[in-house]
Amino acid sequence: MKHLISQKNSLVLSRLTNLDAQSIEPVPVVRPSMPPLEDVLPYLRDIWASGDLTNNGIFVRRLQEELQGYFDVPYVSLVANCTLGTLLALRALGITGDVITSPYTFVATTNAIVLAGATPIFADIDPETLNLSPTAVAEQITERTQAILAVHCYGIPCDVEALQAIADRRGIPLIFDAAHCFGVKVGGRSVLAYGDCSIVSFHATKVFNTLEGGAIVSSNPQLVEAIGQLANNGIIDNENVNSIGLNAKMSELHAAVGLAQLPYVSDELAKRRTIVEAYLSALSSVQGLRFIQPSSDVVHNSYMFPIIVEPDYPITRDKLCEILRQKGISARKYFYPSVADLPPYAGAPSTGPGTLAVARRAADSVLCLPVFPGLDLAVQNRIIEIVRNPLS
Ligand SMILES: Cc1ncc(COP(=O)(O)O)c(C=O)c1O
Repeated sequence: MKHLISQKNSLVLSRLTNLDAQSIEPVPVVRPSMPPLEDVLPYLRDIWASGDLTNNGIFVRRLQEELQGYFDVPYVSLVANCTLGTLLALRALGITGDVITSPYTFVATTNAIVLAGATPIFADIDPETLNLSPTAVAEQITERTQAILAVHCYGIPCDVEALQAIADRRGIPLIFDAAHCFGVKVGGRSVLAYGDCSIVSFHATKVFNTLEGGAIVSSNPQLVEAIGQLANNGIIDNENVNSIGLNAKMSELHAAVGLAQLPYVSDELAKRRTIVEAYLSALSSVQGLRFIQPSSDVVHNSYMFPIIVEPDYPITRDKLCEILRQKGISARKYFYPSVADLPPYAGAPSTGPGTLAVARRAADSVLCLPVFPGLDLAVQNRIIEIVRNPLS
């Protein structure tokens, strides 16, 4: 009998070991944060009872207020997503000329410029932060430049003061694509408080989400009002339309999901921080890997964990990505290729050979490893082990 039990145990053990050797479940690079369903249901009941589904309803207004407090900023205006928010900010500011921007971003940043009727002019990025280099921006300024649209890549703040000084010297607006910046602070202030306005994304993959969504943050009430009208087809009231806008309103359902999620966000940020700290302490001694570190005056949100795979790492970035994929782990070449090399933008005057060298190098060498609050420690250790010894 004893013999049978131990035989059975060893069978279970060997099954476990086999399972462990394979990838038990594919590991995504991000997993959406979702509040408990019970927390969402009371909002749904209210929405169903009132029949108020959209058009600046009570939950949209409540989430705006909550976020104003959370970010400690004067105005937050919710929109359907960050892409439309950016487009409308450019339209509200009357930008139709050249906009200096980063080629190292998600294509939505550049698309918003073109769809607003303006022209993107790419400037190169800083090799340490992967954000727009103020020196490169200054070199691109001409009499046609009407705005700077900078991106706080991975939630690492741009050099906000240097960019502001350039914008002020030229008397043009400074807009921040702050899609990645929920909860980020610099010098004790929300990073969203800098520039003429910032646009943050609440897409499902972000630190805080409303399924789809976004917000414009600004301290300029006229700008916020103008963007709000544009987001409602330029409608002032039932009989008056004073500008050509589109429908970029957030619905009550989306706002309700945000309200239900907000109480969990601090805990989620803490979990992300623990994951990123574990990556850093395990990987910082690996030859050929470099990391983007926020400066000491930044409170970061650990949105992503990008590693920069340098030539002295044993294999290329693409090979590492492939090895992880074969072992069931999704890592993302985020952002690849550089927007300047995507077919709709390649060949534009600021994208010629020999330009944007830092952005193009970053696009070829950055890999984002999985980070999300539910990432299991054992799974993270497996990812670390692969990155430390990619060929074993
Ligand atoms: C840098 C950047 N800008 C803009 C966007 C677009 O955000 P949304 O999906 O809310 O339109 C994203 C989305 O991931 C992004 O990463």
